Amino acid sequence: MPERPYVIDTLISAKSIAARIEELGRDIRTEFADTDKLIVVGLLRGSFVFIADLVRELDLPVEVDFLEASSYGDGMETSREVRILKDLRGAIEGRDVLVVEDIVDTGFTLAHVTRLLLSRKPAKLRTIALLDKPSRREVDIRADWIGFEIPDEFVVGYGIDFAQRNRNLPFIGKVRFTDA
Ligand code: IMP
Repeated sequence: MPERPYVIDTLISAKSIAARIEELGRDIRTEFADTDKLIVVGLLRGSFVFIADLVRELDLPVEVDFLEASSYGDGMETSREVRILKDLRGAIEGRDVLVVEDIVDTGFTLAHVTRLLLSRKPAKLRTIALLDKPSRREVDIRADWIGFEIPDEFVVGYGIDFAQRNRNLPFIGKVRFTDA
């Protein structure tokens, strides 16, 4: 597919993201205040920047693990079939687990991952997503905490890519094609 020209318009500034993560960190610290065994599970690759900032707000004993599920491939279309490309390194049975997702879009990924991890019998499983696009939902699921609700726009930055690019932008931007 030839690359279409596009520009990126800021949707959420780096400052707003930082302020929101501070608030989310407080909520999560409260939720897991009495745990000595929290495992924070980042869904690769889109959550890697978010999880890095989020865990630094958690004044708790945390372990970090990662899981990679297939979703968009290199395009803009979601796939309904979710496959696990990289599993967790450690066991989660009897542990408190926080799953960290970049965006909940159709909801297939979070639903699949939640079901899989629950089958491993964690003591507690909670979910957090930086972004939520409720208008795109096809599966009835909602993360326990959400950073920002956004409209049906294709977004990039702060870990989130378009065809593997733009993950290194410090803000969330929306893709606008200039040949339309
Ligand atoms: P879902 O299974 O449809 O909820 O898709 C979730 C995954 O799709 C997210 O973790 C992202 O990796 C990807 N995704 C959804 N919306 C966007 C977007 O606007 N930009 C880039 N990736 C997206």
